[in-house]
Amino acid sequence: MAQAPATFRAFVVERTTDEFRRGVCDLTRDDLPPGEVLVRVAWSGVNYKDGLAARADGKVARRDVLVPGIDLAGEVVASDDASIPVGTRVIAHGYDIGVARHGGFAEYARVPAEWIVPLPRGLTTRDAMAIGTAGFTAAMGVATLEQRGLRPSSGPVLVTGAAGGLGRHALGILAARGYEAWAATGKRDEEPRLRELGAAGVLDRTEVTAESTRPLESARWAGAIDAVGGPTMPYILRTLMPGAAVAACGNAGGPAFSTTVLPFILRGVAVLGMDSVVLPIDARRALWERLATDYRPRGLGEDVTEVTLATLEPALDGIVEGRARGRWLVNVAAGEGISR
Ligand SMILES: NC(=O)c1ccc[n+]([C@@H]2O[C@H](COP(=O)([O-])OP(=O)(O)OC[C@H]3O[C@@H](n4cnc5c(N)ncnc54)[C@H](OP(=O)(O)O)[C@@H]3O)[C@@H](O)[C@H]2O)c1
Repeated sequence: MAQAPATFRAFVVERTTDEFRRGVCDLTRDDLPPGEVLVRVAWSGVNYKDGLAARADGKVARRDVLVPGIDLAGEVVASDDASIPVGTRVIAHGYDIGVARHGGFAEYARVPAEWIVPLPRGLTTRDAMAIGTAGFTAAMGVATLEQRGLRPSSGPVLVTGAAGGLGRHALGILAARGYEAWAATGKRDEEPRLRELGAAGVLDRTEVTAESTRPLESARWAGAIDAVGGPTMPYILRTLMPGAAVAACGNAGGPAFSTTVLPFILRGVAVLGMDSVVLPIDARRALWERLATDYRPRGLGEDVTEVTLATLEPALDGIVEGRARGRWLVNVAAGEGISR
């Protein structure tokens, strides 16, 4: 098996009982976890979970020394699995990646073969990470709502946290498929861009997080993709149309919410949970194929800010602080002082 260079650069987070450190350092091949496929990482993305993994109080990392980066795309440079030969361009995300084993914020990653997604024709590795875990989960949400019967003719669909990575991709997929997609955002200056991506209307975050004493309100939404969680879920539940569902994707605004059973028993609405981490590999590969074809998000690759291993810290903090506008992409192969 060919190997990575003896040392390579990685962004590492380290916790000891009394110290927390993070930054770029050299790793050796022996630092990489076991796995059949060695990937030279081209791009990774900054996800909310990565931001948490890189904080002292984040409670996401399951190792004391961790290379975060829950998603990555690159080229196979060594493989013990004949179905994934050297030279294949691949995506890997979810499972333990960037949480319980080293992830994408390194020039090389070793990944079990059964977690590998061959890059679909029609996507570059940069496109794949512009979509990343956030866009993939948005696609899971749309696919799940459609499996339950949602169609463009069903009525308007609400997307919350629309200026973030997950929300923007949900909007881009829905708009490309002909839905009347509405965006809810706290960043009113993003409205022109959200409309460009296909938002039929834009709601202020205050409207979708407002408390109400009414358990049901006018049935307005044929479906919803929710990236925000606790603050938005009560509003969504009391405004879904009869039989409609919300894809519960995220908790950027917090996890807890309070509601009544009335939307469930008087309107038959449903909350459908999305967990991209454990999705089995066959379904994962199939959904990536759709992201290259009929689920290709409008505006793919446009709303990104590129950083490098050396400059990604502000992005990690920014995403946790709710400052995301689209996706931050980590150009792993580039960067100050990083040579190959
Ligand atoms: N279930 C899964 O498998 C899965 C996969 C990926 C991500 N996620 C989760 O999905 C969520 C979104 O991920 P992301 O990558 O899109 O993150 P992101 O880029 O940071 O977007 C989150 C968006 O939520 C809104 N928001 C942030 N803080 C808020 C607050 N306090 N109250 C109300 N809205 C707030 C903001 O949108 P506006 O500025 O437009 O208001 C922000 O842009 C995260 O919770 C993430 O952990 C889950």
